[in-house]
Amino acid sequence: MRVASTDNPLSVVVLISGSGTNLQAIIDYIREQELPIEIRAVISNNPDAYGLKRATEAGIPIEVVNHRDYQSREYFDQALRAVIDQYKPELIVLAGFMRILTDDFVRHYQGRMINIHPSLLPRYQGLNTHQRVLEAGDEQHGVSVHFVTPELDGGPVIIQASIPVRKDDTPQSLAERIHEQEYIIYPLVIQWFAEGRLQLRDDTVLFNGKPITDSQRQFRV
Ligand code: GRF
Repeated sequence: MRVASTDNPLSVVVLISGSGTNLQAIIDYIREQELPIEIRAVISNNPDAYGLKRATEAGIPIEVVNHRDYQSREYFDQALRAVIDQYKPELIVLAGFMRILTDDFVRHYQGRMINIHPSLLPRYQGLNTHQRVLEAGDEQHGVSVHFVTPELDGGPVIIQASIPVRKDDTPQSLAERIHEQEYIIYPLVIQWFAEGRLQLRDDTVLFNGKPITDSQRQFRV
């Protein structure tokens, strides 16, 4: 794995569909820490995504590939892939990108595409995770960053952060506290990637060249 440097920064493309608060956290962290990471483009399937404004304000090129313009998931994914590949990214970051991707697309980027999902995977893949955690009466909730593989929200986990569920929690209050954790762990994982510390080998995450351990996977402040 190569280690990014100021002369040769890690090239990244970020995919969004919505407000882009994770995108903002990533932009801010790269700046504050002066990391050798270049977000070459922010791409959205939704032309109204607020995150596009955040990108423009940060001076990052934006692209819209509107899924409504395509007859099928396959055509949409082909168009998306063509736009992404123009930027030659070493890492593709899904940050609230709300489209299910085809297996071909995912395989093309395997090992260099990551996602953040608001649950302690493998629990609660899919949508409405905060509501489902409350309905199940769980005492712990959390968020996971994982490599993307063809199984939806099923790829190998890189890191997880946990929060306790309180008696008076609502889906909104959980979402807020989960977001705070997201803004810490997602930029951190991108930094590790730039430092050449993260790899996917088959279905195993390698951290510093060795299979990641359960304790390395648990984020602690
Ligand atoms: C986050 O909760 C993330 O876990 C999920 O989508 C949401 C994106 O929020 N994948 P934002 O667009 O970054 O504000």
